[in-house]
Amino acid sequence: MPYVTEENITDVAIERWATCHSPRMREIMTSLVKHLHAFAREVELTHEEWLAGIQWLTRTGQISDDKRLEFILASDVLGLSMLVVMMNGRTPTGATPNTVLGPFHIEGSPELPNGGDMAGDASGEPCFVTGVVRDLDGNPVPGAVLDVWQADGDGVYEAQMAGREEPLLRGIYRSGPDGRYCVRTVTPLGYSIPMDGPVGDLIRQTSISEYRPAHIHFLVEAPGYERVITHLFREGDEYLDTDVVFGVRRELITQFRRMPDGPTPTGEVSSTPFWQIDFDIVLNKAA
Ligand SMILES: [Fe+2]
Repeated sequence: MPYVTEENITDVAIERWATCHSPRMREIMTSLVKHLHAFAREVELTHEEWLAGIQWLTRTGQISDDKRLEFILASDVLGLSMLVVMMNGRTPTGATPNTVLGPFHIEGSPELPNGGDMAGDASGEPCFVTGVVRDLDGNPVPGAVLDVWQADGDGVYEAQMAGREEPLLRGIYRSGPDGRYCVRTVTPLGYSIPMDGPVGDLIRQTSISEYRPAHIHFLVEAPGYERVITHLFREGDEYLDTDVVFGVRRELITQFRRMPDGPTPTGEVSSTPFWQIDFDIVLNKAA
């Protein structure tokens, strides 16, 4: 091995990391070394800047636990999470596209009947989400499992409510024989990403908006179809064009329609006005 010089150190490091035992690991690590070195050369990284970066990474690890996922947040705001989602979940035109899972999904939500209420005592205005789960040819997909979760009318998730034990604003629904589903909930509010950690420290040094537009999360699975992890977004929301985690896709923007008091999608009569969202979910057949 040659002794290193400023000119050859990248090649020397790549050669060393090319000893990775797995071919895929070798590909990833040698590429990482190549791009890290190119980055440092391009910006002519100073010793102080390199140390500041190391300290930022250290703080990002120290603030993280099983609920606070600061590295995922860092990946989200850099656009890396969404890039990985799009590269790994390409869908044909017309199919509901994937977007980020986000940090607030909780496994094992309660099973609810079609039209069942997942809002309980949550803040927010009454809202019904209805639609059809179908395939690209327009055929209904019965028995699809829809795992739905969202923030409340103040932009807060169950996972952020200290001491909360009862499930809130999450439920598992199934599409009926005609592919239809109906979720009874409340309107969500958009929210700021956590700004009290190292990611917030970085964002504050920019003009980036820390807000996400209002949305409802869906994870939809049906035998014979590709799983889709997605959100629906509220048309007209002021943060649609600047979503801090790059999650918005045009096909996922939906109208929240204000309905007068009277019959609701479940057939019950509401004595107050309510909101209605129509959102069809189009699944792509599994290969
Ligand atoms: Fe969310």
